[in-house]
Amino acid sequence: MAKILIVDDEHMEKMKPKFEDKGHEVIGFDNKKEAINIIQKTVPFDVAIIDMNLGDLDKEGGLEIANEVRERSSLTEIIIITAYADYKNIYKTMEVRLWGYIDRNLDHNLNLEVDKALKYVEVQKGVFESLKVAIDSNDPYTHGHSKRVAEYTELIAIEWNKINKTNGKKVKVEDVKMAAGMHDIGKIGINTFVLNKPTKLTNAEMAMIRIHPVEAERILKEIPGFREAEWIEPIRQHHEKWDAEGGYPDAIKKDKIHINARIIAIADSFDAITSDRPYSRNKIDNAKKEGKDLIDFTIDEIKSCSGRQYDPNAVNAFLNIPKEDLRKIMEEKDR
Ligand SMILES: [Fe+2]
Ligand SMILES: [Fe+2]
Repeated sequence: MAKILIVDDEHMEKMKPKFEDKGHEVIGFDNKKEAINIIQKTVPFDVAIIDMNLGDLDKEGGLEIANEVRERSSLTEIIIITAYADYKNIYKTMEVRLWGYIDRNLDHNLNLEVDKALKYVEVQKGVFESLKVAIDSNDPYTHGHSKRVAEYTELIAIEWNKINKTNGKKVKVEDVKMAAGMHDIGKIGINTFVLNKPTKLTNAEMAMIRIHPVEAERILKEIPGFREAEWIEPIRQHHEKWDAEGGYPDAIKKDKIHINARIIAIADSFDAITSDRPYSRNKIDNAKKEGKDLIDFTIDEIKSCSGRQYDPNAVNAFLNIPKEDLRKIMEEKDR
């Protein structure tokens, strides 16, 4: 079952049952205000069908909605319907990256286009799921790491957006979450002995580990449709450091590091420290010795590296997350 959004001021009621009858969840609106409100609050849609002209007073309202949908996620496929498929409109929608543009007068194409778009979304989701299984099965110790990092990342991204509501620095929550779920896919070729070695790594082993962000980018860009995907670049950068000191693979710093990567870096560290892994044992023991709650201990660790390893503004967003929300993820069963 797919999730479909329809926004059309005149034909929504007529269109809705066509897709519901196929077993999809369809949410429809005949106006921009309600549509925009729901786009930001709900799980992203698989396909959005949007009428460009939402009445005489809002002839290009559909474009605004398409932008909102795209802001929410890169994965939603957007189909614009119009009775005026002229070049002016097509140019305007190019930046949004549409699945397609349907002329209302040739309306019979719509069902076919929606089916095709849904198939494409399904294949993409399937690729993600199988990659996730592959990451976890490569290393039983890191089982659940990618999932938890994705969940912590989502919380930080939401707080980041609250802080940056009006300055144009908002992040696409679904994109950063998706990248977080894939961030360690490049470890797939690394021997688990090396991944979990509790003692100091040799230079050769260190080099093997350090290549994983580059490998991740290479693997994901092999997938058709992902080559140009903007959410992939931050994966390459998830081990870069704010002051560039010791960051890899490119040792770039500050704003040169994509904000999504700066957010994932914090989520990644939080999970690494709070997980019972050979290399985090010391930290967990230290927390116990100091008589500190593991979450408090880890928050202090991250705070102490703010401005060096981590972007201070991203750390501030992280610090706004209620501790109990972090704990819920930390205590998830599949560890
Ligand atoms: Fe990593
Ligand atoms: Fe990681």
